Amino acid sequence: MPRFALVTALAALLLAAGLLAGRSGASQGEADRVAAVVAPTTDFSKPERFERMSGGAATSTKYVNRDAFSQPSANMSFERQLDFRVGNGIFKKVWVSAPASTTASDGLGPLFNARSCQRCHLKDGRGHPPAANWPDDNATSMFLRLSVPPRTAEERELLDSRRARVIPEPVYGGQLQDLAIQGHRAEGKMWITYETVPVTLADGTVVELRKPSYTVAEPGYGPLDPEVMLSPRVAQSMIGLGLLEAIDEADILAQADPEDRDGDGISGRPNRVWDDEAQRVALGRFGWKAGNPTVRQQSAHAFRGDIGISNVAAAAAWGDCTAAQDRCRDAPHGNTPAHDGFEASNVMLDLLVFYSRNLAVPARRDLDDPDVLAGKKLFYDSGCIACHRPKYVTRRDEKNPEQSFQLIWPYTDLLLHDMGPGLADGRPEGDANGREWRTPPLWGIGLTETVNGHTFFLHDGRARNLLEAILWHGGEAEAAKRKVVAMSKAERDQLIRFLNSL
Ligand code: HEC
Ligand code: HEC
Repeated sequence: MPRFALVTALAALLLAAGLLAGRSGASQGEADRVAAVVAPTTDFSKPERFERMSGGAATSTKYVNRDAFSQPSANMSFERQLDFRVGNGIFKKVWVSAPASTTASDGLGPLFNARSCQRCHLKDGRGHPPAANWPDDNATSMFLRLSVPPRTAEERELLDSRRARVIPEPVYGGQLQDLAIQGHRAEGKMWITYETVPVTLADGTVVELRKPSYTVAEPGYGPLDPEVMLSPRVAQSMIGLGLLEAIDEADILAQADPEDRDGDGISGRPNRVWDDEAQRVALGRFGWKAGNPTVRQQSAHAFRGDIGISNVAAAAAWGDCTAAQDRCRDAPHGNTPAHDGFEASNVMLDLLVFYSRNLAVPARRDLDDPDVLAGKKLFYDSGCIACHRPKYVTRRDEKNPEQSFQLIWPYTDLLLHDMGPGLADGRPEGDANGREWRTPPLWGIGLTETVNGHTFFLHDGRARNLLEAILWHGGEAEAAKRKVVAMSKAERDQLIRFLNSL
């Protein structure tokens, strides 16, 4: 079906459901009809209506190739597409150290992990763990977050009031920057060792998982704090972020069950973090532990922490240099009146955020294939959808028409879940404890290999394929994992076929 026909059909469906009257202040009857549209299906004989369009009318149907994650929202006006393209330029911009003859791109570091956003979010997709430890490979698209437990009344108050999500390592700051501009020492190298953990499936197949351990090699500023907590993170894929932001907060909170009152073994807790712009506590949605409330805040912090570029929403010219790294704070910076007093101007940040909100989710493939449909049923029957929740209707939003009022299929509840000791990083972030992770959206996951040339999954890329990613599930997801362990090979293959069609 051509896209416009689909969109019109969707509007008709929702109109019929009485939805176009708007969500806020909707009557109970309307709320019930919304619930009916997003209720999990029980019919696996054929695809659902609009199921192909994972991102609603914003879905990209154009490419199933390396550029599959790099398309603008398909329902974007021509004028806004021009902004998207300029934003793409900023996402790809390679920053240089100050002072430089081109002040438009200087201010890198002094400490940094990469010189551009794109260097980590490769092809707007996900990063990967290094093939080997330094110096045989670099870990550019992945890094270690650092923090320490609160030790003073002041630090406890910062966390309790949620004005801070973590207490940064006193010398090294909030993340380990493995690169530095000339004349400065890098902070060190992430060092990974893997241990093999065999898992035997019901049919006798043995899968060897690799369990990583992380340390910091060659620390550049003395020993790390004895209580330091490390959290490895690979860069996430950039698709559909504006749509995730447009999910009504009430729809997310409605699924939270912190005390597990329904007794299904799955709790689901919202992260609650500081929204710098709104100056209040807000629902966390972005990052592997939902540590950021908005695409804007996540992007602004990435500018400062990952690249060392100051901006109106993350102002320090020295990025993540701490007061204990004074030479670093004294280094020349690229703040300039031409950029509103920062290294990146307000317009640059706005365009970057616009770009980051509008990378389209690719359309589903093969969704009417009998194996894919059987795999979908297994996904539902195994309890995966308790966390990887299939669909939502986004809220209306006049300022962001691309994301407004769309039926979307992200396969996430955006909540935190205890995933057991195997995946635990032991490092709290906001309300997320050391065993909790945010359910990642699964849309587009089947194109990871096409776009990024690999199939490394989970927060630190330890899983080498989708089956390994599932077998790492524990804690609240233990029962769902056991169902997969008990499957025949044919069923497992169908489940994976379904995931690969997303
Ligand atoms: C050094 C690698 C690196 C660079 C450079 C980088 N990122 Fe990221 N990005 C990450 C990692 C790692 C995460 C996950 C962060 C976490 O869990 O705390 C992430 C997460 C994100 C997310 C949240 C995605 C989601 O699904 O929740 C956004 C948005 C984002 N980055 C935007 C940007 C922008 C914009 C830039 C450039 C200013 C940038 N990033 C530069 C590594 C990087
Ligand atoms: C209790 C909630 C929960 C249940 C149930 C659950 N998952 Fe997950 N899933 C998560 C969380 C949280 C992560 C991220 C864990 C991490 O990165 O350490 C995840 C990660 C994944 C990933 C990797 C995603 C990525 O971007 O790297 C896949 C694939 C996946 N789950 C599939 C499944 C399947 C299939 C099932 C059912 C058999 C399932 N999950 C059941 C919460 C859940």
